[in-house]
Amino acid sequence: MSAALRPFDVAAIRAEFPILQQQLEGKPLVYLDNAATTQKPMAVIQAITDYYSQCNANVHRGAHQLADEATRRFELSRDKVASFIQAYDRCEVIWTSGTTEAINIVANGIAQRLKPGDEVLVTEMEHHANLVTWQQACLRSGASLKIVPIHDNGALDTEAFAALLSANTRLVALPHVSNALGTVNPIQDLTRLAKAHGALVLIDGAQGIAHGGVNVREIGCDFYAFSGHKVFGPTGVGVLWGKAEVLQDWPVWQTGGEMIAQVTYHSATWGELPNRLEAGTPNIAGVIGLAAAIDWLTQFDVSAIQAHERALLAYATTLATDFEGIQLVGTAADKIGVFSFVLQGSHPADVGFLLDKQGIAIRTGSHCAQPLMQRLGLPGTARASFSVYNTLEEVDALFRALKKTQRMLA
Ligand SMILES: Cc1ncc(COP(=O)(O)O)c(C=O)c1O
Repeated sequence: MSAALRPFDVAAIRAEFPILQQQLEGKPLVYLDNAATTQKPMAVIQAITDYYSQCNANVHRGAHQLADEATRRFELSRDKVASFIQAYDRCEVIWTSGTTEAINIVANGIAQRLKPGDEVLVTEMEHHANLVTWQQACLRSGASLKIVPIHDNGALDTEAFAALLSANTRLVALPHVSNALGTVNPIQDLTRLAKAHGALVLIDGAQGIAHGGVNVREIGCDFYAFSGHKVFGPTGVGVLWGKAEVLQDWPVWQTGGEMIAQVTYHSATWGELPNRLEAGTPNIAGVIGLAAAIDWLTQFDVSAIQAHERALLAYATTLATDFEGIQLVGTAADKIGVFSFVLQGSHPADVGFLLDKQGIAIRTGSHCAQPLMQRLGLPGTARASFSVYNTLEEVDALFRALKKTQRMLA
């Protein structure tokens, strides 16, 4: 570990998150819904407050000092994201409202090029954002949507993936990490296979980004999409990273101010990357907040973050082996962050409700993955998802509360 990095001390980390200091139902809040959204450290809250209280102005177009400073912070944020994910060039970082919009920008571009006979590959574990978008693009263009199956433990069937690739595969869209199962996909190997067939590759990084260590050059993909709010940043901001050679003539997404080169009453030409894909006033405070989140996260060694999250998951999995009546959903060998389960004989919604009454925040339901739940034959699951500030004591609290919940529902 480099000397410049901050030691990974969970108590010190927790102290930086004001929301974690509160009590719910007379008990300390146990926040285990990090796959839905992560909490924000003071550094992020402060960066947003500073922007609004020191230099609120529109970017790129002002002739005054506030606008210059807002533009400086805004564009510095792009540099930070570019270096965080090892982009080749800062112009490859496109600000979006989140993963969903990033995927839609790619779909909008590719749908205009798809034709009958072309194929798009997704997996059985997709979040709706990376399924419905492609399903609709295929319906519009006449291309076929191919679904790569998973094994019963939630791991991707990589042999089926290889078999489904063909010269007709135009795009492969894969999650880095499944939000419902926690499965970490071998995206580098899968990308290599897909590229050998000449396909474009999009990685849905909504869950992957929070665990650190994303290097788009190593992955070899064409696009990587993520949301700020899943990585300690604000809601309403996200990133589409795309290779400049692919994005530079990508069909424009929205039209309006900032994205043009020349405009007449009857025609317009488009600007260069990144502006050509960023129409209108961006979420300036959100972008600055996201960069502050990245500064905050990159104080730590990535391997320490991952080791902590894997230790929480391993501990929960061990406690589950001694807990009668719990069924784990998603037990792939490589998984992170997500502990999905059903309590036998109980509906996940009831489990979530009763845990909430004991100060424990989890998520229940289909996790925006209805087809995956159908594939697993489940109405939904209860999902505890872990982050850097969670503790082994919180995992104990979850299991104590689950015992009580089980008794109440019996
Ligand atoms: C795997 C995955 N993809 C996409 C999304 C959509 O992210 P957002 O709603 O921030 O656009 C999520 C959100 O939970 C997700 O977990």
